Amino acid sequence: MRKVNLEDIFLHPITQKYLARSGIAHAITVAEYAFLLAHEYGVNPDQAAKAGLLHDIGHYTWYRDGKWDYDLYKENDIHAIKGASRAHKLLIRIGEERHIAKEIAIAILLHTDSYLPQGHLELQPLQQVVTLADEKDEETGGNHHYRQIEQYVALERIRALDIKIDQKENPQNNHQQKMA
Ligand SMILES: [Fe+2]
Repeated sequence: MRKVNLEDIFLHPITQKYLARSGIAHAITVAEYAFLLAHEYGVNPDQAAKAGLLHDIGHYTWYRDGKWDYDLYKENDIHAIKGASRAHKLLIRIGEERHIAKEIAIAILLHTDSYLPQGHLELQPLQQVVTLADEKDEETGGNHHYRQIEQYVALERIRALDIKIDQKENPQNNHQQKMA
């Protein structure tokens, strides 16, 4: 039984505040991709979806002359570091297991290497899943951060994903429900 579900995380004011900057539609799509990839990579679908949802909450908006500046962002960005820290604090605050909060935070920290010195990172499966899920939804010039979604559609997709995660975690209950 999960202590925290995606809806708890999604509706929290801190999540809403930061996802409004980095894109709610992108966050949800990455959570959905991460859930799908989790099976293939043998990682926990709940952790994959949570890390996908929160992977960009460290974003800061970079403006120059009133317009968002992608080059300025690329040059100065540390969103993965900030995101890992924010996600960890948020998850602990809403009651997540400490070891799960840590796994998710590290996956967020390593979902991009754009801020790291050149080198080769050997990612663990959960970290790979979040990286791949993010790449699947990326658009040129950072446009994926600006895709819009209605709040009620966002919440429906979050709830649908929560149901899928619960079904994966408790296939027994699922079977019993079908039999009833
Ligand atoms: Fe992203």
